[in-house]
This record gives sequence, C-alpha cells and structure tokens, in this order.
Amino acid sequence: MELVNARTAGFCFGVRRAVRLAEEAAEKFGHCACLGPLIHNADVVKMLESRGVRTVNDVSELKPGEPVIIRSHGVGRSVYEELSRLGCPIIDATCPDVEKIHRLVEEKSREGRVVVIIGERHHPEVAAVRGFCGESVVLENPEETEKWLREEPGMASKPLTVVSQTTGEQKNFENSVKILKKQCTNCEIFDTICGTTSNRQREAREIASRSDAMIVIGGRNSANTSKLAAVCRECCGKVVLIENASQLDPAELRGAVTVGITAGASTPEWIIKEVNRKMSDEIKTVETVEENTAAQAVEEKTVETTEVSAEPAAEQPTQEEQVKTEVPEAEASFEELLERSIKTLHTGEKVKGVIASVTQTEISVDLGTKQSGYIPISEFTDEPGVNVADVIHVGDEIEAYVMRVNDVEGTVMLSKKRLDSVKNWDSIVEARNSRAVVEGTVVEENKGGIVVNVKGIRVFVPASQSGLPKDAPMTELLKKKVRLIIREVNQPRKRVVGSIRDVIVSERRSKAEATWNEIEVGKHYHGVVKSLTSYGAFVDIGGVDGMVHVSELSWKRIHQPSEVLSVGDEVDVYVISFDKETKKISLGYKDPNENPWVKFTTSFAVGSVTRVRIVKLMTFGAFAEIVPGVDGLIHISQIADRRIGKPDDVLSEGDVVDAKIINIDNDNKKVSLSIRALSETPAPKAQPVEEEPEDEDDTPVVVYDTENPPAPEDLPSEDE
Ligand code: F3S
Repeated sequence: MELVNARTAGFCFGVRRAVRLAEEAAEKFGHCACLGPLIHNADVVKMLESRGVRTVNDVSELKPGEPVIIRSHGVGRSVYEELSRLGCPIIDATCPDVEKIHRLVEEKSREGRVVVIIGERHHPEVAAVRGFCGESVVLENPEETEKWLREEPGMASKPLTVVSQTTGEQKNFENSVKILKKQCTNCEIFDTICGTTSNRQREAREIASRSDAMIVIGGRNSANTSKLAAVCRECCGKVVLIENASQLDPAELRGAVTVGITAGASTPEWIIKEVNRKMSDEIKTVETVEENTAAQAVEEKTVETTEVSAEPAAEQPTQEEQVKTEVPEAEASFEELLERSIKTLHTGEKVKGVIASVTQTEISVDLGTKQSGYIPISEFTDEPGVNVADVIHVGDEIEAYVMRVNDVEGTVMLSKKRLDSVKNWDSIVEARNSRAVVEGTVVEENKGGIVVNVKGIRVFVPASQSGLPKDAPMTELLKKKVRLIIREVNQPRKRVVGSIRDVIVSERRSKAEATWNEIEVGKHYHGVVKSLTSYGAFVDIGGVDGMVHVSELSWKRIHQPSEVLSVGDEVDVYVISFDKETKKISLGYKDPNENPWVKFTTSFAVGSVTRVRIVKLMTFGAFAEIVPGVDGLIHISQIADRRIGKPDDVLSEGDVVDAKIINIDNDNKKVSLSIRALSETPAPKAQPVEEEPEDEDDTPVVVYDTENPPAPEDLPSEDE
C-alpha cells in the first residue's frame, strides 16, 4: 500500500495564526475567553482550555474586562462595540483574508450597494461579514440564487456586490455568479474564496482521482473539511472522514493499493502524523501477514518438490525498510510544510507564491507561509493599459518582492513591478550594449522630451530624438507604443536615455540600401509624399526620396504640385530615371492610361473638324484646347480668310469656335488647327474616327510648345 500525503493538508495560515495568538494570550493574561471554539478541532480546543483559554458562545457570557480572543472567522462590527463597552481587551485573530472582506463590504454598503454573500447562511464567518453590511443577502447555491431573483425581481436592477465565504466551493460560487451576471444589470463580483482553500481542494481532487481510497481528517462541523470530503467523493469511490487517528479503522482500507491523505484547515500536524503512523502500522501488519502466508506457501511447496531449485529467493526488504521507504516522504512533506509555514519574511526578499484571488484593488498571493501575501494593483505593473485579469489567473505562480511585513496583521505587501524592474535592468543594459531595438509606451511628456516605459523602466527620450519634426507637439506620442534604441544607461542614478530617431534612421538606411539594390527604370513603387516644392513632389519609395516633376504630376496644365498632391498622401509612382552616383531618382506619377494625347489620337485625325476653346493668344496665333490636356495652335494666317494684324482682332480667350485639324505631329505631340480652312471648304463637323482618314490638307507641320512658344522669326511664314 502506498500513502500519498497532500502537501496542502493541515492548518492554513489563518488558523495557525489564531492558535499562536491564543497561546500567546494565554501566556500573557493567564486566562482569557474565546468567542466560540477557536478552531473546529476538539483536541486543540481542549489543549487551549488546559492553558486557560475558555470558550464562550456569546458576549453575554464574558466578564467585564476579561481578555477575549476573536477567532479567525471574525465577528460583526456590533460585537467589537459591545466588547469595548465591556472594557475587554481584544486579541483579534480574524484571518486577514476575512478582514479584507469586512473592509470591502463595509465600503460597498456605504456606496449603497446590496451585498450578496455566496456561502452557508449559519456559518460564523458569513454572520460576521453580514455584521459589516448594510443591506445583504446570503445565497447558498445556484438554486437559491435563481429562486431569490425570481421572488425578488427588483433586485436584478439594484447595485449588487457579490462576495464568497472564504471556504466556499469554487464551482458553487462560479455557477451562482453566472446566474447573477446573466440577470443583473449592475453586479460587481469579488471572488473572495481563500486561495489556501481552493489549492487544498484542487490537490485533494488530484490525489483522490489516482487513489483507491482517501482519508480526510478534520472536524465534522468544519465547513472546509466537509467540502474537502465532498470534492474527494466526486472522484474516489472510498472516502473516510475522521476527526483524529482514533476514529480510523485501517481494516476498512484493506485492498487499496494507493491511499491519499488530506486534512482540513483546522487539523493540527500531530493528528495528521498520528494517522500516518497508524496507517504505517497497518502496512507493517499486512506485509507481515502476507510474508508469513507466502513463506508458508513456499515451505509447503519446497516439501512437495525439494529438487526444484537451489537458488536463494530474491532479497526482500525487511518490514522496517519497507515502512521507511513509504513513510518518510509523508513525514518530509510535514517538515517542509512546517519549515515553510514558520519562515520569516523580510523586506526586500524575493518570494514565489500562487495567486489565490484577483480583485479590482489587489491580488492575493498564497506564499505557503503564516502570512498572507497581497500585491496592490498599483504594484503589479507599470505598463499602462494592462488589464490585470487578462494577464494573470488564480493558480498561476508569481514572483514578487516583499515590500512590507505586518506581523500583527499577518500580511505581507508585495510588489511585482519592482521585481520586474530589477530584472529588466539587465535587459536594458544588454540592449544598450547590443543596440537592439526595444519597445515601450510613452507615459509622459515634459519640457525636454518624453518618458517611455520600457518593461517598467523609465527611459527619457529628448525631443530631438523623438522622431518628430522640430516644433511638432509631442503630446501626439502619449500612450503610443514606440520603438527605440537605448543610448545611455546610468544605473546608480537610474537614468536611461533612448532615441526613437535612431531606429527610424537605421531602418531607413537599410530600406534605402535595399531600394538602391533593386531599382530599375519603369519599376513601380507605392510611396508617401514627404514634401512639396514649386517644381515637384518628393516621394519616399522605401528609405529613398525620388522627385516627381510638376510636369509629371498631371496630364492637365497645373501651376503648383499642391494642386494634385498633399504631404502624407500615399501614391503609386514609377521610375523614369535614376543615378546611383548622385543619388537622384526621377519619378513619374501620371497614369499612362489617362494620357490625353493617346485619347486624342484615337479619336481625331487630320481633317477632323472640332469645337475648340481659345486658351491663349500670342502675336503669332492662338492656342486652343481640343480635349483636356491637348492644345493646338491656330496660326495667325489660319484664323481668318483675310489678312489680320493680330489674333485678338478676331478672337478672345475663352471663345469657343469650330476649327479643322490640319496637322498632327506625333513625335513632338503638336497639333495645327485652322479656322480659315472651314470658310474655304465647308465640311461637316468631324467626330471620332474609326479609320485613318486621308490627309486632305497639305499644310506643313508646325511644332508648337504652348509653354515655350517659338520666337516669331522661327515661325513659318504664311507663304511657307
Ligand atoms: Fe484559513 Fe483564512 Fe483561508 S482562516 S482558510 S487562510 S481565509
């Protein structure tokens, strides 16, 4: 038979503290009273009685001025008042975890909320909690919760604060809460189940599921022992509930190969040891009987077949050895338990624990010691925007620094963020040495720059290193995640300086290198407009800026790049030309499909007559828009069928007239028009052509550039 002892068995820190305080009180005052049995264990209560601690059931039984112990379950506010009226010195052994619930419900009641306690109606702890509430209700299970909401429908819209009895069963609490959450509109939940209890139940369930029998030791009237037994019964067919070793009948467990042992929070170590000892004796007896039976069988067999074998039987461990191999483990765990429980914690010490509960204000940590650990939410992390409930969960292991030990209250204030900060110093120094990029959140803006929180460490980034243009407001970086390079670390002065700009510059440099390596004429890029000048736009195509000349921005005539683009616009551009030596790139932006010349030549031909708009008058003729983006020149000789002194004798800017296309110069993209030709040879108004018409007019080709008109002497004469 193998005995498996639960590591979490026995006194919880709240009970251990209560027993210690009672012993100290007995020693100090010689005699004192305890309001109700100190713990659910008759042996312990008897032991205390022998030292002068008498148990009273009610304040009325106290003598004025008699020192009185309040047990770990606590008492309501009115009892404190009554005790003070009687002048009784108080030895307050209320468990710090229970005290926290008192503070919570008192505060919530003050806010006008109704307190809902999920727990046993008649349990002293529940009664004590109610003693700190205004309006309150106790619901024992999900069924009662449903019934309550059915019978009191108005409650669903009231502000409710839900807490649990510390020794409540997790599943029961969660199922009750589910119902409340579903039906109530203003309901805040505080899981106040003690971590010690839930850990004990979790371990008991785990051991019970792999054992043939379970021994649960604890008071029959102890809530947490009854629940422990119930949890074990869920996954083990044989569960024996006993108060002490005398109630154990090992014969009941014969045949079991593995026997698990756990104990409630009020069970002292000596009782658990006694149970182990009794079970070990049983193992010895069974082994002896089995060995004797086996020896007898061998003897009988030897008599029957003497010549079968001369080989000695394999060496069997002696009974003593057998017991030693099984019991010490159990004993070692008690030693360990004891060791841990009496360990004194010191400020600045690093400790490890298990998260017992998470509330809106703090995280309870079970340190496995006599004290109860807690991390105020403000000491959890410096990371802004972190939702604690998302990153940690009940049962998770956590490391933290001891900030303050309060021996009187039995609490230890912890800080995780300070431990993280110490740990993170190393990584910051490492990042400075390797110039690795680190990430952080901007938490502050000040005169000289910004402060970035990098893993709990404040890193100062001067304004010039913020990556923002000069004079840009740094507030826009607040609460944003940024990447930076650590430039300077002064650990003794806790000063770290970083640069966001360094990251931008270094990333831009590598991008530029890649762009130059793969650039080619005609290649398309998706870029961002970085700046505008009068002659073009500079576009970042990946660490490198190329320029789109104003003439490449639009097919239409524009005067300023800002007519088409704005800084920050994302644009598709293509490379017209580049020079790796001078690092210059010329980019195109106009969409070739929108090329008006192409559109024009597919729709018009020499001989077509079309309506045009006079856009500019020159001494040598008039420019007229045929389609947006394509102008033609009506030479002065082609304006009228008579000789005119100057074009504005006949035309004005903005006039719309019919004109005939008399020449198209595809190479230079120039068009010659004539009004005169229409008066000479009336022709129907031309429309887009399908086929290339015959060139009816042999007027010579004239090249005109609207923006840079030729000098008059360069123009062909009318005769030519
Ligand atoms: Fe014990 Fe206190 Fe938890 S009395 S069970 S440690 S709430």
